[in-house]
Amino acid sequence: MRGLAALARRYGTPLYVYSAQTMRERYGALRGAFTRPALVCYALKANSCRAVAAVLAREGAGADIVSGGELLRARAAGFMPSRIVFSGVGKTEEELAAGLRAGVKAFNVESSEELDALARVAGRLRRRAPVSMRLNPDIDAMTHPHVTTGRADNKFGVEASEAFSLYRRAARDPRLRVAGVSCHIGSQITSLAPYRRAAAAVAALARKLRAAAIPLDFADMGGGIGISYENEAALDPKALARTLEKAFADQPELELLVEPGRYLVADAGILLTKVLYRKRTSKRRFVIVDGAMTDLPRPALYGSWHPIAAVSPRRGKKTVADVVGPVCESGDFLARQRPLPPLERGDLLAVLKAGAYGFAMSSQYNSRPRAAEVLLEGGKARLARRRETCRDLARGEK
Ligand code: LLP
Repeated sequence: MRGLAALARRYGTPLYVYSAQTMRERYGALRGAFTRPALVCYALKANSCRAVAAVLAREGAGADIVSGGELLRARAAGFMPSRIVFSGVGKTEEELAAGLRAGVKAFNVESSEELDALARVAGRLRRRAPVSMRLNPDIDAMTHPHVTTGRADNKFGVEASEAFSLYRRAARDPRLRVAGVSCHIGSQITSLAPYRRAAAAVAALARKLRAAAIPLDFADMGGGIGISYENEAALDPKALARTLEKAFADQPELELLVEPGRYLVADAGILLTKVLYRKRTSKRRFVIVDGAMTDLPRPALYGSWHPIAAVSPRRGKKTVADVVGPVCESGDFLARQRPLPPLERGDLLAVLKAGAYGFAMSSQYNSRPRAAEVLLEGGKARLARRRETCRDLARGEK
């Protein structure tokens, strides 16, 4: 933790600090858990910082992208297009064209109209578009409602019967090439049961397609691997791999894909923030810090719990306080009713497990320039993204 104080002095706060080592360990544990051909596609949305993504690209990971912007960033980070899957419920024709030109591994298609658009774009570009339908298996991932995606009342994917007829259409269309099947039922999933059920549904569809002479190259089971933020039991990568391999045991020709974001980067990142002021009302104690919901929106958005540690803890009795930012909303908190050691103005706090959906979801609300990001690699720290300035805030305005 001493090194963190030096980083805060050098780069200022709020500051994101990432560990390349932790990401490599996570990637290795997951990739190593599979005993048949498998591809771990890093979901760039979790953290699209080029230096972070490049660590995983160098390890041999593929990428899961959901926009033209992520395509650009994935390529800049060094991911091979042949290992990139393009997901997302609302890809524009421009984005489809960019993916086709780049030569992505597959488009995870989510509707009949998107399939039409993809065929049109492919025809125009005279390329065959690799298609993988995203199945909505109507399974409850038993996670936060905002990140549950595999229920029939969610906007994602297509139901099994429709998927089958879309595959039939794709198989007949010379502008399309049936490549695989995909499914993503949610995020921060901490039990195997939903994966087991989703994999069974995907495997059944693949079997039915094989019987209809529409063979697939891969089955993509999406992301969602849950980590332990507070005291949840994290999903074990080995158990997950075993579950998936079992579901597809009778279809050894299928390459298995997963699209984890959080699992690979959440534990690799912290948000360093400095105590600005302390105050008390008749009801509550507050620690006001320079990091806010604009830097780490998860607590405000989902009521998420992140561990918080004092970088140089002072001796003394712990007291319970809310850790809040400078933004003008009561929803702007990093922690509520948290026991904290004695703190003085200028003390540093580290918000842990902040490497996923932290900076990536940050905003400039209240005209707050976004934080800087630093990557630790091989014992060295390097600036991965400079802190925004107030001039950056008005960039593009006329
Ligand atoms: N694949 C697809 C198609 C996805 O939609 C997602 C996440 C992933 C993969 C990666 O999921 P992961 O392995 O990271 O769980 N902002 C929320 C999480 C939103 C996840 C959206 N989709 C949070 O901070 O908890």
